[in-house]
Amino acid sequence: MKIVLANDHSAVDMKKEILAHLEEKGYQVIDIGTNSPESCDYPVFGERAGKMVASGEADLGILICGTGVGISLAANKVKGVRACVCSEPYSAKLSRMHNDTNILAFGARVVGTELAKMIVDEWLAAEFEGGRHKRRVDMIMEIEKR
Ligand code: RB5
Repeated sequence: MKIVLANDHSAVDMKKEILAHLEEKGYQVIDIGTNSPESCDYPVFGERAGKMVASGEADLGILICGTGVGISLAANKVKGVRACVCSEPYSAKLSRMHNDTNILAFGARVVGTELAKMIVDEWLAAEFEGGRHKRRVDMIMEIEKR
């Protein structure tokens, strides 16, 4: 399982913790930065990560900015991406089970590192349930074509 990890300047330290956590669990992680505390533009990283997931270069993506909002909005503009911001594990888990999210985002200024790890773990452990949820996810993806 290949996971692309992207972040802006507000989340460099948290990204490093999440990267180590994922690697410890055996995931192959592609860290596309930023790795500098210098101010940068989160849409650049959200779009890059989104394209990697949409193209299949990565199976899933994890994005971190100050709130998780900006970087997820950027990723969601890429066709095929279903990114959501989660600040607790329940929504993260259900976002995969019911919404088949392929990108998880959270905020380094919102959640602590240990909570972020729990959010990541629940999201990665969950599986899409399909069935009626597939019909609804398909409806969401149809919107991209209109
Ligand atoms: C950067 O200051 C901040 O705006 C960004 O990290 C993010 O929170 C935007 O949604």
